[in-house]
Amino acid sequence: CRVVVLLSGRGSNFRAIAEAGLPITIAAVISNRPDAAGLAYARDRGIAVCALDHRAHADRESFDRLLAEEIERHRPALVVLAGYMRILSPAFIARFEGRLLNIHPSLLPMFPGLKTHERALAEGVKVHGCTVHFVTADLDHGPIVIQAAVPVRADDTPEILGARVLQQEHRIYPEAVRWFAEGRLAIEDGRVNLRGDP
Ligand code: GRF
Repeated sequence: CRVVVLLSGRGSNFRAIAEAGLPITIAAVISNRPDAAGLAYARDRGIAVCALDHRAHADRESFDRLLAEEIERHRPALVVLAGYMRILSPAFIARFEGRLLNIHPSLLPMFPGLKTHERALAEGVKVHGCTVHFVTADLDHGPIVIQAAVPVRADDTPEILGARVLQQEHRIYPEAVRWFAEGRLAIEDGRVNLRGDP
């Protein structure tokens, strides 16, 4: 299964996927930020990298068209968003719908958007977590593939809670990618159907 990864920063989820021994070929890693640490790691592993600087483009549509063309050059079966911090245009999402996964650091549909750990603490929730979902035009609301929950402790800071969540991200994202690579994930009536045992 050929996979293209999009990221904007650290790239720890990309690393977790790259190091999980999955039946995939990471054909390329593409970033909208040339200085993303995830790109350096990819280069070290001999994975093709590409930096497309969105600041050089007038509007989201033209940048996303270029991004889509770069992705398709690598003929991926799956596109993985791993900390890709730009909203994608509806045309881009339509082009890749059904083969576009994202990980979000909350138990969706709670806390879509940014600063999820701060908001979880502010709300006083006792359980927090992360979600892998298919990307649809509805931001952070696509069909859910897998979630992991972590306890929220009384003395948590956003950083401590975020680190606890991130550990789970590194577990569930490779798992979701494995299911996709094995051809076991399908969307039926707007929900994910996972064939076979988890
Ligand atoms: C993660 O928290 C992920 O849930 C969110 O962006 C962050 C990316 O971290 N979408 P990393 O670049 O994978 O380390």
